[in-house]
Amino acid sequence: MTLKATLTAHRDFVIAPVDRRLFGTFVEHLGRCVYGGIYEPGHITADEHGFRQDVLDLTKELGVTLVRYPGGNFLSGYNWEDGVGPKDQRPVRLDLAWASTETNQFGTNEFITWCRKTDVEPMFAVNLGTRGPDSARHFLEYCNHPGGTHYSELRKSHGFEQPHNIKFWCLGNEMDGPWQICAKTAHEYGRIAQETAKVMRWVDSDLVLAACGSSQRAMPTYAAWEYEVLDTCFDQVDFISLHAYFRNDADDLPEFFAEIDNIEHYIKEITAVADAVAAKRRSKKRIMLSFDEWNVWYRTHHPECIKKPGWPEAPELLEEIYNFEDALVVGGVLIVMLNNADRVKVACLAQLVNVIGAIFTETGGPAWRQTIFHPFADASRAGHGEVLRLGIDTSTFTTKMHGDVPHLLASAIRNPETGTVTLLALNRGEEAMDLSFDLSGMGAGYRIGSAAELHHPDRKAVNSKANPEAVAPAPHASARIDGPAFSARLKPLSWNVFTLDMVA
Ligand code: AHR
Repeated sequence: MTLKATLTAHRDFVIAPVDRRLFGTFVEHLGRCVYGGIYEPGHITADEHGFRQDVLDLTKELGVTLVRYPGGNFLSGYNWEDGVGPKDQRPVRLDLAWASTETNQFGTNEFITWCRKTDVEPMFAVNLGTRGPDSARHFLEYCNHPGGTHYSELRKSHGFEQPHNIKFWCLGNEMDGPWQICAKTAHEYGRIAQETAKVMRWVDSDLVLAACGSSQRAMPTYAAWEYEVLDTCFDQVDFISLHAYFRNDADDLPEFFAEIDNIEHYIKEITAVADAVAAKRRSKKRIMLSFDEWNVWYRTHHPECIKKPGWPEAPELLEEIYNFEDALVVGGVLIVMLNNADRVKVACLAQLVNVIGAIFTETGGPAWRQTIFHPFADASRAGHGEVLRLGIDTSTFTTKMHGDVPHLLASAIRNPETGTVTLLALNRGEEAMDLSFDLSGMGAGYRIGSAAELHHPDRKAVNSKANPEAVAPAPHASARIDGPAFSARLKPLSWNVFTLDMVA
């Protein structure tokens, strides 16, 4: 049996422009993300800063726009002062979050230098676990104040004459989680976030600040946490964070696929909570959503993959090897985020390299693209313009936990400057799908600019050092345009990207 799906859209029915910060990732001092990932002095590709050029090139190819740093759970025990100044004077510390030894050979200035070389926006976070407003204001003064004060002059003495001008700051990390160093109640966190935000804005009035939401939708205090936190710091913050990691422990593909649909619920629920807080104040202000940690993560969620004995330096932690079905889930989540572009303005795939990473490296060896690299790179390439409100007519499949969910997930982005429409389409069906898209609402003729698919007959196929291109995009053979009618036959279980160019 062949599945069928039809799409309709009109160029004037727009959800929102795509915020380029949707294509963020995350670099945490965790395992081999920093050390052996982006930073490996002595590596054959390392530059004068010790940055691996192979990882840097793949980061650019991935289309990353923003990178969150330095954690994560690591953040809640981090002293920013440890990571600046002469490297031979930096203290070696115990990192309680990941039971590792932190050498502090990489810190704020190294990260900023890496961001400038990689052409990504830095997204920093302040420690609201063991520390608070005092350390946050000093850190911000160090980073953003032009000069003439203790911390700005300290930055200059470290070789950074110009301020870093870091705009986006997260106020702590997953502060509701019992695993967090110095976790807090909603009341405790709301107050510290409020006061920290207040003094940070007094140091630099031009900041974007994100408060911590629940660390996942399954938390017992979910939604009540967001309400109380936002009710406390509504006037001081711009964003609330969301975190989601998708699991497939039971090896049940329909259930795994339906995790994508849960993201839609998550976004709608947090939007409703944030708007309820606004309504209480009769405020027009809208708190935006920062999905600043998301990915597939379950194989390395076991205690022995999270902490290793003996306080090792840069141990192999959370080194998830992604397969083809993981890539489909990542593509589906990107579609949902794009289709909620009116509220989801920031998102960070967690993480960039080695640690649940889109890129994988061998320390002292090569780097390659994991399967999930491809849908992310496609979505980032596509994500220029406005997301159109798509009418989608598709069959559904039934899941045990999540009811009926659609076979087809799709998003269409139109670049208003060129008229180009990019269609991202995920066929979650185990059969091929005949897809048609009525382009008559686009107001012009179209031709196919490019057509690609990500498909593998083996759902468990992975990329590896020996076979780094096992799962990789290939040209799509069946895409056609006949007048205003676009059509393509999508392979079973496939991720598809079509670029439709306006005919002059
Ligand atoms: O990304 C890995 C970890 O997952 C982060 O440190 C933490 O914030 C989350 O629980």
